[in-house]
Amino acid sequence: MQKDIIIAPSILASDFSQLGAEIAAIDTAGCDHIHLDVMDGVFVPNLTFGPPIIKAVRSASRKFFDAHLMVSNPDRLLADYAAAGCDGITVHMEACDHLDRTLSHIRELGCKAGVALNPHTPIDGLRHVLDRLDLILVMTVNPGFGGQSFIEAMLPKITAVKDLVGSRDISIQVDGGITADNAEAVAKAGANNLVAGSAIFKGGLNAYAKNIAEIRAAASVV
Ligand code: DX5
Ligand code: ZN
Repeated sequence: MQKDIIIAPSILASDFSQLGAEIAAIDTAGCDHIHLDVMDGVFVPNLTFGPPIIKAVRSASRKFFDAHLMVSNPDRLLADYAAAGCDGITVHMEACDHLDRTLSHIRELGCKAGVALNPHTPIDGLRHVLDRLDLILVMTVNPGFGGQSFIEAMLPKITAVKDLVGSRDISIQVDGGITADNAEAVAKAGANNLVAGSAIFKGGLNAYAKNIAEIRAAASVV
C-alpha cells in the first residue's frame, strides 16, 4: 500500500523565543505534522521541553502533534503528554523495559503509538509488537542534536522495516539529517513520514513553504 507523504518539521530547529509563532508559521507553510523533540538530559545529553511547553503552544496549530520522547523511563509522564495535546507519542525501544505495555498505554490514552530505533538498534524487537504500533521511527542520526549528517547506512534498515511492516497501517518515519537532497532516497527505501529540522527552518519565515515543498516534491517522486 502506497502511503501519503507526511512532512513533519522538527521545532528543535525553530526560534524557541517565538515558539508559538514558529509553529503557526510552519502550519501556514504547508506542513502535515508538527514534530516535538523532547530530551531529558539522561537518555540523550541535551535537554529541551516537556508537557507544560507543549500545552502552551498547542493552540498555535490544529495539526497533528507528534511527540518524539528521547527520555529514559517514558512511562512516568505519558498521561501528561496526552493531556498536553500530543496526538502521537513515540518512545525509544532502548528506553523501555516493557515496550508492549508502554505502547498499549499510549493507545489507551487516545494517542497514536510509535517506537524509535537508534541507528545501531536492530529491528527484530519490533516483530512482536507490530499490532501495538502506528509508527516506526528509524533514526537517521544519533539522537540528541539537530543539524547532524544523515547516516547512509540507514537506507537498507528503512527497507527492512518496510518489509517487516508489509501491508499493515504503520507509518515509517525518518528523522535526522533529512533534506531535499536525500528525501527521494529515503522515500524509495520505504519511508513515508519525513522529519526535518534544519532543512525546513533555514532561511527565515519566508522560506518555510519553499523548504517544505522541496522536500515533499523530492519524496513524492517515488
Ligand atoms: C534529533 C531529533 C531530530 C532533529 C532533526 O535528535 O530527533 O528531530 O531535530 O533535526 P535535523 O533535521 O536538523 O537533523
Ligand atoms: Zn525527532
